[in-house]
Amino acid sequence: MFEHQVTEDISLRLVGQKDAEELFAVVDGSREHLREWLPWVDSMTEVDQYGPIIHAWLQQFADEDGFQAGIMYKGHLAGFAGFHTVNYTNRQTSIGYWLAHEYQGKGIMTSVVSSLVDYAFEEYDLHRVEIRCAMGNTKSQAVPERLGFKREGVIRDGEFLYDHYHDLIVYGMLEDEWKKCKKS
Ligand SMILES: CC(C)(COP(=O)(O)OP(=O)(O)OC[C@H]1O[C@@H](n2cnc3c(N)ncnc32)[C@H](O)[C@@H]1OP(=O)(O)O)[C@@H](O)C(=O)NCCC(=O)NCCS
Repeated sequence: MFEHQVTEDISLRLVGQKDAEELFAVVDGSREHLREWLPWVDSMTEVDQYGPIIHAWLQQFADEDGFQAGIMYKGHLAGFAGFHTVNYTNRQTSIGYWLAHEYQGKGIMTSVVSSLVDYAFEEYDLHRVEIRCAMGNTKSQAVPERLGFKREGVIRDGEFLYDHYHDLIVYGMLEDEWKKCKKS
């Protein structure tokens, strides 16, 4: 199974069907924290619902269309991050992520996203990486801001969250900008 080392303590790992119970437990244990910004949380109420999703994620990786990976922190599943899809025509992708509440505040996601941006430019040979964050989600916005992404604009009512729309801030990073960020 694909595993990508991020730091000594952090790695990204594709999940298989045997991981469904652990994934369910991690999401279930952070339900209130995650549902504040992620629209899919309330609908995931049974372990069995993860089967087809894990299958789709593995297919996405096999199709070289990006991947969704479990974030392993000191051997424990701490969250998820990955590429939504890869647009080879325009050489771009976008990144999504979440952490269980108890793994926040350690810099884990900033390291993971930095590693995913490296992966996008080096392995997929892309030109642009995008991250979209909800307007009020300051913790999420801080991740691309810490890494030097440019705030490019706002998509009004860009996402429907349970019972309302919210605006999305678009952050972008280009390949040459990333090289400069890494040098400074
Ligand atoms: C968005 C989310 C992943 C951010 O988590 P996070 O822990 O704040 O982000 P990081 O793992 O990068 O950690 C940064 C925090 O660790 C601290 N930190 C400690 N060591 C650090 C290091 N070596 N490098 C960077 N930050 C470090 C930072 O100061 C920061 O803490 P602060 O918010 O108190 O200033 C998390 O809040 C989450 O999952 N939210 C719910 C789902 C969600 O919103 N997903 C995004 C949808 S767009």
